[in-house]
Amino acid sequence: MNATRHAITVHVNGAARTTDVEARTSLADLLRHELRLTGTHVACEQGVCGSCTVLLDGVPVRSCLMFAVQSDGRTVETVESLSGGESTADALDRFQRAMSDCHGLQCGFCTPGILMSVTAARREGLGVDETTHDVLGGHVCRCTGYQGIRDAIRTTWDADARDADGPAAGPAADTAARDGGRA
Ligand code: FES
Ligand code: FES
Repeated sequence: MNATRHAITVHVNGAARTTDVEARTSLADLLRHELRLTGTHVACEQGVCGSCTVLLDGVPVRSCLMFAVQSDGRTVETVESLSGGESTADALDRFQRAMSDCHGLQCGFCTPGILMSVTAARREGLGVDETTHDVLGGHVCRCTGYQGIRDAIRTTWDADARDADGPAAGPAADTAARDGGRA
């Protein structure tokens, strides 16, 4: 039996993407299989591990729990957006660099989801304690013991506090830093 397909347009990482999907297709599967944005990882598929986290209209969501049709007309940001689609070290934003410098990842499977949740926290201006406890508490990492990730969050928040533009500038400040030298 042929499943009914639904036409949707999703604004993904700054570009409008129009496609048609089955009603049962998850947002994670749309991103990974249809749009080839494989930086979004899928593990538990029940909303627990956080590895599939993306930003929907700026808000972190578990993309394994959302249907792709629910993203119609909305904005999705994936981990690929943080470095502008580039894969060089120079393209990394401040928190990505801090994760590397502080050894906040080992296998890296959990990392994209953490990057997206922390990016949202940084934009919202959440405090370092709220981010290291509450935000990071929504992500399962089987490798690091979390200390390196906490260190990366503190390092980033400290750097934002020193930055004349402050944490609200977030990725915009990172872009400026990439273009004009490290902040
Ligand atoms: S794969 Fe979505 S929360 Fe684990
Ligand atoms: S770095 Fe391996 S699961 Fe977190």
